[in-house]
Amino acid sequence: MDPPTPWMTWAAALWSAAFNQNLLHTDTAPAARELERRVVDWLAPPFGMDGGHLVPGSTVANLTALWAAREVKGVRTVVASELAHLSVRKAAQILGLEMREMASGEDHRMVADAALDLSTTAVVLTAGTVAAGAIDPLDAFPAAAWRHVDAAWGGPLRLTRHAALLDGIERADSVSFSAHKWLFQPKESGVVLFKDAERAHAALSFGGGYLAVPNVGVLGSHGATALPLAATILAWGREGIADRVERCMELAGALAERIQDEPKLELFAPPTTGVVLWRPRHADAREVRSRMRGAFVSLTDVKGETWLRSVAANPHADPGRVVDSVLAAV
Ligand SMILES: Cc1ncc(COP(=O)(O)O)c(C=O)c1O
Repeated sequence: MDPPTPWMTWAAALWSAAFNQNLLHTDTAPAARELERRVVDWLAPPFGMDGGHLVPGSTVANLTALWAAREVKGVRTVVASELAHLSVRKAAQILGLEMREMASGEDHRMVADAALDLSTTAVVLTAGTVAAGAIDPLDAFPAAAWRHVDAAWGGPLRLTRHAALLDGIERADSVSFSAHKWLFQPKESGVVLFKDAERAHAALSFGGGYLAVPNVGVLGSHGATALPLAATILAWGREGIADRVERCMELAGALAERIQDEPKLELFAPPTTGVVLWRPRHADAREVRSRMRGAFVSLTDVKGETWLRSVAANPHADPGRVVDSVLAAV
């Protein structure tokens, strides 16, 4: 899930290290704070959100969103699929919330239990599960006190011609995604967005004698993550970002087709969000991977079985080379 980063993000990282701005203080980071606001204002509308802030990744974004759910709506329980990312369980534990896991179907999408009382529950729906890139039904549990979409991986699809895959996300109370995944940013770059950011931020806001403005969210001192993101948005525009994500989706499709054409290989399912799960039919995936040279695939366990996993994070990747090096290692 780690993409190549464009050169303007390297220049921005140098600038940030040299100036060492701290966004906690208006007087030490007047421009960088404003830049973050503009970047968030640009990112929020396609998700139906009205604001939010930058965080170091979706782990912190999920924690922040569930923290807001607890403060704004008195949420006591978190409901998520058994395939939700571990950061959701982590957040529930940190926040002292009860965690309830829902079953998932063969397609890895959450199976919603309509009988649940959700009056004090935050439901977390995943748009792009870790193993297979599945998207939970994003309109599930409309009666929940809070609905959060963890779109760590799949979020940027909303900026592309695949936007409809995330339909329903606009009805969530909060959304998270990692810009260091499909927005091609260096780590650590993520976003938490809210339907009503003013209310959510007010609930997560702390004043202090040494602060000119309240400190909002989990982080204290933090740097100008918005700068590389703004540079990328300015250089590529929405169209340039979409082109690259769409190219990644095409490469995942090409990889899946090639796997289906190879009798020695098995495809888990056609990819929905650029994540391809596959394995050799008559050899152990773990052993094959340990023998591989020259191309990278990761391993993942799905219901007790090990699969190879290819994530289309690189628009310059060569799916043929990945398949060839797996076949050579079988
Ligand atoms: C669905 C999902 N949620 C959350 C996370 C955590 O994101 P991060 O590593 O940016 O903190 C990941 C990371 O892979 C993920 O796939």
